[in-house]
Amino acid sequence: MDVATNERAAMHAHLDEVYTMLPFTPAKGAGVWLEDAAGRRVLDLYGGHAVAALGYGHPRLSDTIARASRDLVFQTNALPLKIRDEAADALAEFAPPGVGRVFFVNSGAEANENALKMAFRVNKRTHIAAFEFGFHGRTPGAGAMTWGAAEKWYGLPRTPFDVTFIPRGDSSLFAKLITDKTAAVFIEPVQGLGGAYDFGAEFLHALRKHCDSVGALLVFDEVQCGMGRTGHAFAANMYGVQPDMITVAKALGNGFPVAALLTSPKVSAAIKLDAMGTTYGGGPMACACVEAVIEAIESEKLLDRVRRVSSYIRETCAVGPVTGFQGAGHLLGLRLNRPAKEVHAELLEVGILAGTATDPSILRLLPPFILEEQHVDILRDALTHLS
Ligand SMILES: Cc1ncc(COP(=O)(O)O)c(C=O)c1O
Repeated sequence: MDVATNERAAMHAHLDEVYTMLPFTPAKGAGVWLEDAAGRRVLDLYGGHAVAALGYGHPRLSDTIARASRDLVFQTNALPLKIRDEAADALAEFAPPGVGRVFFVNSGAEANENALKMAFRVNKRTHIAAFEFGFHGRTPGAGAMTWGAAEKWYGLPRTPFDVTFIPRGDSSLFAKLITDKTAAVFIEPVQGLGGAYDFGAEFLHALRKHCDSVGALLVFDEVQCGMGRTGHAFAANMYGVQPDMITVAKALGNGFPVAALLTSPKVSAAIKLDAMGTTYGGGPMACACVEAVIEAIESEKLLDRVRRVSSYIRETCAVGPVTGFQGAGHLLGLRLNRPAKEVHAELLEVGILAGTATDPSILRLLPPFILEEQHVDILRDALTHLS
């Protein structure tokens, strides 16, 4: 073992080894930059898996966390909280019309578990449909509808319900695969881990129409693509498609763990006392963060900025190994002429952190919404120097 490997092994002595870790140990962050203890700076175009929408050290969020921690670190859902109502109001207003009821939870997977429960409650059916290459989380229900989980990591002896996986991009298969047995169809309108794959307006409108014709609910998993990442509040806004439920997490708290299930009147009518529950979901600090994130996105006009800077990436970064682009806003896939793993490692060596995806030739960018053109120029110059 070399010195660096030895040091890493000592550092992780008590952590389960379930993650492949990159050779950079951030100690702090400012804006779109991360810095290690030795002062090495890395441009973060991955945002902690799409979480750090406002980047690092954002004054509004830092002040909010400091104030909220002094006011009341935690209280349960057994007591009403003004900040919980305010956060729900802000999120319902930020979301597309028609999904105006909010249930706060802690993670994307937990939001999807509750969406599943509500789907089965509304539609007394036994099947779920989801898409190939989709990712919905690691818990029993969310994992059951995650593409490839059964072969890779699912681990439980059986899944709790039947799932039909639909190939991407072929709406002619809907009639065969989404039927009057389907309780709900779950889809990431722009897939994250699947490679920043954008299903597009025509496909999603056809999906909505077919779900209506067979009485299946449509659930948009916007855990990764929601909260402004596409340059629109939600992908549902961008495409003008009205889902029955939306799940959201990641950027919602900019790193403070919080997620939510948004429901239409049809679904919320089925939500009775005790239908769902959680200890930490809807806690005061999480809710203060939700409100602060939405205020920052709106007051700093970050949706406009995401659209503008994302276009700039597409205009300037078709250089070096990059042959094309897919995705939307700051959920962007750079198609490469060689394995993304190699380019990912080479970029980190020169101080740029990006992401990979299930598709081995896609380099995935999930930068903070505060990214500017000058940062894109750094990426372009680095890519230009890679063959
Ligand atoms: C689209 C999507 N859904 C669900 C999840 C699961 O979220 P969490 O890790 O917060 O449980 C993720 C996480 O990457 C995701 O990208």
